[in-house]
Amino acid sequence: MHLDEQSDEQVQESQSLEALLSEFLTQVSSSHDLAALDQVRVEALGKKGRLTELLKGLSKRPPEQRRAAGAEINQAKSRLQQAIQERKAVLEAAALEAELAAEKIDVTLPGRSAYQGTEHPVIQTLQRIETFFQQSGFALKEGPEIEDDFHNFEALNIPSHHPARAMHDTFYLNASYLNSSESSSVQAHLAPLLLRTHTSPVQIRTLMSGEPPLRCICPGRVYRCDSDLTHTPMFHQVEGLWVDKDVTFADLKGLLASFLRWFFEADLEVRFRPSYFPFTEPSAEVDVQCVHCKGKGCRVCSHTGWLEVLGCGMVHPHVFEACDVDTEQYTGLAFGLGVERFAMLRYGVTDLRLFFNNDVQFLKQF
Ligand code: PHE
Repeated sequence: MHLDEQSDEQVQESQSLEALLSEFLTQVSSSHDLAALDQVRVEALGKKGRLTELLKGLSKRPPEQRRAAGAEINQAKSRLQQAIQERKAVLEAAALEAELAAEKIDVTLPGRSAYQGTEHPVIQTLQRIETFFQQSGFALKEGPEIEDDFHNFEALNIPSHHPARAMHDTFYLNASYLNSSESSSVQAHLAPLLLRTHTSPVQIRTLMSGEPPLRCICPGRVYRCDSDLTHTPMFHQVEGLWVDKDVTFADLKGLLASFLRWFFEADLEVRFRPSYFPFTEPSAEVDVQCVHCKGKGCRVCSHTGWLEVLGCGMVHPHVFEACDVDTEQYTGLAFGLGVERFAMLRYGVTDLRLFFNNDVQFLKQF
């Protein structure tokens, strides 16, 4: 059949089929994902698709037109199907590539480092203190945190009605919590057990178990029923004891002044103020020139230029007598310091409680 033999109606129909096909082809090439592409397929070739409807409409045509029109529609249909197939392959390849890109691992990248813990600032400070005294010939001694009245008070020249006991805010242990072997040692001293309020009982234990001359430091936890900005119920102390034939107050001054200058890494002035402790005579409190303002006066030293850092004195004869040490032959010096106080001054920490909250952000800085 020649073109010029086609009816006007047929020419119009094949033009609109051509237009419909090109519209679908555009939609196919512009679909950006598989879902959109399938939408086009349904609209064109689905059960109620436009091309499907055209094929259905053939039966209403006069028989002589059916073949030619059917062939045209089928040709359009297969061109569209092919375009959809090709587009589908392109989209599937792109999706796969995107998926692979997202899953890619660069094995040459350096690994993420795990967070490593650090030593607690109080422990670092304690170790610094221990280093100085160990290098000065002091041995390390430890004693129990649960103490009895004898070691914590009595032998330290603090008898039961001594007013100094009130200053100690002691935590006493209820004997009924203790097992039988522990409670028999309670009975031995006829006094309740307690959490030691200072490290000085280790002085007693050391003097009772060994012969002078001796030099030791005793670090450890101590407990007082006390809690505010500058006090916590548990804190750390280091006790020092040096007993020999001719230990003098001059030794005490020299030792502590060189310790403080070494610890704070500065040539600070040190002063000894007369004070009172039942277990030393004479007793002194030691102040160091403020490590922050170097004595000019600032908030840290309450504008005095000085910081009180430790207590000390010459061992009281009553202490030696309680431990059977010959007071005619021996003299001794003793001191006690609070580790948290040294840590606060060294690191410029103004709230004591920060050391015990264990906030990693805070601890990481040390
Ligand atoms: N034990 C005292 C205190 O806790 C400190 C101290 C120790 C003072 C040794 C003098 C000698 O406050």
